[in-house]
Amino acid sequence: YGYFTYDPGFLSTASCESSITFIDGDKGILQHRGYAIDDLAKKADYLEVCYILLNGDAPTQSEYDEFKAIITNHTMVHEKLAHFFQGFLPDAHPMAMVCGVVGAMSSFYHSDLDITDPAQRKRSAHRLIAKMPTIAAMAYKYSVGQPFVYPRNDLSYAENFLHMMFSVPAEEYKVNPIIASAMDRIFTLHADHEQNASTSTVRLAGSSGANPYACIAAGVASLWGPAHGGANEACLTMLEEIGTLDRVDEFVAKAKDKSDPFRLMGFGHRVYKNFDPRATVMRETCHKVLKELGINDPLLDVAMALEKVALEDPYFIEKKLYPNVDFYSGIILKAIGIPTSMFTVIFAMSRTVGWISHWDEMLSQPGQKIGRPRQKYTGKIDREFVPLNKR
Ligand code: CMC
Repeated sequence: YGYFTYDPGFLSTASCESSITFIDGDKGILQHRGYAIDDLAKKADYLEVCYILLNGDAPTQSEYDEFKAIITNHTMVHEKLAHFFQGFLPDAHPMAMVCGVVGAMSSFYHSDLDITDPAQRKRSAHRLIAKMPTIAAMAYKYSVGQPFVYPRNDLSYAENFLHMMFSVPAEEYKVNPIIASAMDRIFTLHADHEQNASTSTVRLAGSSGANPYACIAAGVASLWGPAHGGANEACLTMLEEIGTLDRVDEFVAKAKDKSDPFRLMGFGHRVYKNFDPRATVMRETCHKVLKELGINDPLLDVAMALEKVALEDPYFIEKKLYPNVDFYSGIILKAIGIPTSMFTVIFAMSRTVGWISHWDEMLSQPGQKIGRPRQKYTGKIDREFVPLNKR
C-alpha cells in the first residue's frame, strides 16, 4: 500500500516546470525572470515587477505606460461587489472578507472566464492586480466603520493603496514619499516566491479548470496560515505578548525548548538556510523607515533585541534561523500605522501577481494535467462490514 514516493511537505519533489522565479536557497538567490530581487527592489517599481512576472521581460517605457494605464483603468470594483462587505460582522478578520470577496469576483467578470483564451486570462490577471488593493482597503475601512475610499488614478500603485486606507471624507491622506516607497518595496519583495504553499494551491485549483477568481481565493486561504503569510501578523502578536525588553530572553528560551511548541514568529525559512535575500533589502528599508519617521515604540525595541539574539545565539546560528522578510515587513507596516490584522492581506495583495502569473503559465503549458497527488495509505483494509443492527 505504499506504491508511491512519499515526500511529506514536498521537501524534494518538483511539482511543475516554471520559468518565472528562480531560487537557490543555499546561496540566498532569488530572481524573477532572471532579474535579481535586490535589483528589482531598488531599481524598479512594483508595477514593473508585475509586468516582468506576467510577461517575462522588463518593459520598455511605452510598454510600461500602457500596462500602468490598463491597471489604473481597472482599479474600481463593481458597486454591487462593494455591497458584499455589508454581510460581514464588523469584527470579521479582513482576510476572511478578502477571501470571500475575491471568490465572488467570479460572479461579476464573466467576460474573463474562458480560461482557454490567453487574452481573457491576461484580462483577469490585470483586473486582479488592479482590484486587490481596492478590496483590501475596503476590508479595512469596513472593519473600522469608515466609508470606502475610491481609488485615485493619478497616484502610484502604493500611493493609491495608502490613500484608500488612510483618507477620510474630511481629510485626504498626504502622501509621504518615504512611506510610499517602503510600501512599494514591501509589494515587490512579496510579489512571487515560486512553489510556496499558496502558489501551489492556486496551481492545483487551476489545474482542474477553475476560474481565476476562485483560484486566487484559494491562494488567499492558503496564505492565511501562520507558517506562511500569517507569519507577519503572528510576529507582531508575539512582539505584543513579549511586550518589554526584559522578557526577550524568556521567549528566546521558550523557542529553544524542544518540549515547548512555541517558535519565534518571523524567524526561519523552508528554502533559505543561509539568508533570505528579501530580508536583507527589507531590513535596510525597515531601519530607514524607523529612523526617518523617528518612531518611538517599545515593540520595535523588542523586535530589534530579538533580531540581535537571532543573529548571535548559537541555537539560531546552528539551525540557520534568520529573521525572514515578514519579520521586517511586519515592523515596517506597524511603523506606518497599518493594523496588524491587515498584514497578511497586504501580503495577499502583493502575491496576487505571482499567483496569477503561475496560473497563466500553467494553462499555457502544453499537456497540462489536473494535479492529483497520491497517498501512502496507512488505514485498515479488507474488513468485513457488519450491518448496523448486528453490530
Ligand atoms: N523558532 C524556533 N525554532 C525554530 C523556528 C523558529 N521560528 N523555526 C524552525 N525552528 C527549529 C525547529 O524546531 C527545528 O528544530 P529541530 O531540528 O531541533 O527539530 C529546526 O529549526 C528546523 O525547523 P523545521 O520546522 O524543520 O523547518 P521548516 O523548513 O520545515 O520550517 C518554517 C520553516 C518557516 C515553517 C519555520 O522556520 C517556522 O515555523 N518559522 C516561524 C513562522 C514564520 O516566520 N513563517 C514565515 C516564513 S517566510 C514567509 C513565507 O514564505 O510564507
